[in-house]
Amino acid sequence: MKNAKLNVNDEIIELPTFKGSEDEVGIDITSLRSKTNHITIDPGYANTGSCLSSITFIDGEKGILRYRGYSIEELAEKATFTEVCYLLVYGELPNIKERDKFSKSLRKHANLHEDMKRFYDGFPLSAHPMAILSSMVTAMSAFTPESNSWEDDDMDHSMIKALAKVKTIAAFSYRKSQGLPFIYPRTDLNYVENFLHMMFSDSQEDYHVNPVFAEALNLLLILHADHEQNCSTSTVRMAGSSQANLFATISAGIAALWGPLHGGANQAVIEMLDTIKKDNCDYKKYVNMAKDKNSDFKLYGFGHRVYKNYDPRAKVIAKAADRVLNELKLDDPLLEIARNLESVALKDDYFKERNLYPNVDFYSGIIYKAMGIPTNMFTVMFALGRLPGWLAHWHEMVASGTSRINRPRQIYTGSKIRNFIPVEQR
Ligand code: SDX
Repeated sequence: MKNAKLNVNDEIIELPTFKGSEDEVGIDITSLRSKTNHITIDPGYANTGSCLSSITFIDGEKGILRYRGYSIEELAEKATFTEVCYLLVYGELPNIKERDKFSKSLRKHANLHEDMKRFYDGFPLSAHPMAILSSMVTAMSAFTPESNSWEDDDMDHSMIKALAKVKTIAAFSYRKSQGLPFIYPRTDLNYVENFLHMMFSDSQEDYHVNPVFAEALNLLLILHADHEQNCSTSTVRMAGSSQANLFATISAGIAALWGPLHGGANQAVIEMLDTIKKDNCDYKKYVNMAKDKNSDFKLYGFGHRVYKNYDPRAKVIAKAADRVLNELKLDDPLLEIARNLESVALKDDYFKERNLYPNVDFYSGIIYKAMGIPTNMFTVMFALGRLPGWLAHWHEMVASGTSRINRPRQIYTGSKIRNFIPVEQR
């Protein structure tokens, strides 16, 4: 590959370039500061690559998403979430023996340490489930000593325990919020069935997993499983680069995901649709508000830093929303409002000029709602899906052997040096 040439104060410096497996080209600026005493500035990192990764490929212009080379559409149709967890973390789809061993490990480690249950008593009923999730995941570091180690076996055990237990933490936080007894995981159920069992079983009678729910949840978790260097995954890489405990590192990712510009958007979408419904379904008013620079209203579930085309996940989820509501014979007016919002926005120059399309969060809440999952749990569901992606990126960073602590530079714009003034003279 040819070097890039940069003219700095009439001095031409050459910077190496390299091409990824999908022909993306990067300029290696690791020598920039030593050669020019200049740094780059890129707020929001829209033009800055933080790493090389072989986990997920996104083509934002074409609306392509692949995990380890497999298209999201094919995985969503043919894989189980457990298989996708294995694929993301270990790089290949498991064979039958590998799949069964992995699945058995996840079922074996699904219980929490009994002492962790007491933490739930300390949360007020009003606690947001994401606050509980991030606290409980950090607390897991106290019960999993191997999670401080970067030895292969220890990392593997810690990743298995994270995948196995975080769904239990999520289900227990729902049960607590409803004043219901905790339902323990069963060893005869797969990941999705076990989660639904722990969420909705009645402790007095046998619970039969609704196959429509199980299929829809499997699909949603797969679609959320990874998305290369998004805000929360980059946060996991940032926190993990200091060699922090794995569970503390994952908890940092949970915190970043919570924001309404990121994973918290799925909750914000349903709240937005509810507001529009209460306002005589006047969705055109809200489309106009989203265009008004004097309004801080934005169309949640719309727009994306990378996708400048329709988010491929949103296409799959929109179809699944129709299918789930039809199969459950449910009629949710919010789906019609969402469809109308999409239809008006996609014809509007403001949205077209900015390439704003529905993203993964626009329709997912319709399905969670149909399954009886409360709105404040939607971002927890996103975290459950994204967990294998976070683990895969953390593991890739550690296993690369080239990981350095992430420490960006800055350009200082504050006061020049000045002398201290005693308070009497200020
Ligand atoms: C996720 O990165 C990932 O991969 C994330 C994710 C993943 O899987 O990890 O895909 C999951 O987080 C999806 C996004 C969920 N967030 C939302 O739905 C919140 C609403 N969307 C916006 O806040 C916004 O689109 C972002 C945050 C998603 C992207 O922000 P950018 O890339 O910084 O874009 P921007 O805010 O600079 O917007 C560019 C223009 C601006 O207008 P102008 O200044 O050019 O006039 O588009 C406008 C924005 O005002 N715009 C919107 C809008 N999104 C962008 N206007 C109205 N409504 C919106 N939703």
